[in-house]
Amino acid sequence: MGHIYLIGFMGSGKTTVAKELGRLLERPVLDTDQLIEAQHGPIKDIFKREGERVFRAYESKVLRGIKVKQAIVATGGGIVENQENVDYMHYNGFTIYLQASFREVSKRLKNDEARPLWTADQHAQNLYDHRFKMYERSAHEHIRTDHKTPLEIAAIIARLIELRE
Ligand code: S3P
Repeated sequence: MGHIYLIGFMGSGKTTVAKELGRLLERPVLDTDQLIEAQHGPIKDIFKREGERVFRAYESKVLRGIKVKQAIVATGGGIVENQENVDYMHYNGFTIYLQASFREVSKRLKNDEARPLWTADQHAQNLYDHRFKMYERSAHEHIRTDHKTPLEIAAIIARLIELRE
């Protein structure tokens, strides 16, 4: 078993679940957004300064730059926009879609100003619908996260991993 990649829409809890899962499985935890920010500064500024295309290039690069073994990787919500990233994750591990409802992510991201693609209007709903299909296609497994705690979700993933090993 290689890495465990968590994919899903903004606000679906990938980062928090990754930390819980890291504790349960005693594996290192990484986050592609944090890796990008460590090198290039806040995501909001990257979008403003260099645009989404450059951000996507940074994202693909940090995904491929992960050198630790068997990591839990929380990915940015748009990682699936590039099919090569999806193929890369399939080849290098196990991909899990954390599926939160639009209603739930809207609630969580209500006052969020750090995510340039979150607009809390019809655009966000359209993006959600478009991405939904991409996540479904891209994941080995998916988990509905509404009404579950991060620890419960991590425990479900740990069981799935056990079954595969
Ligand atoms: C994005 C999601 C964000 C971040 C960037 C773009 C997207 O990550 O990578 O703002 O395109 O959905 P989270 O999913 O961690 O919020």
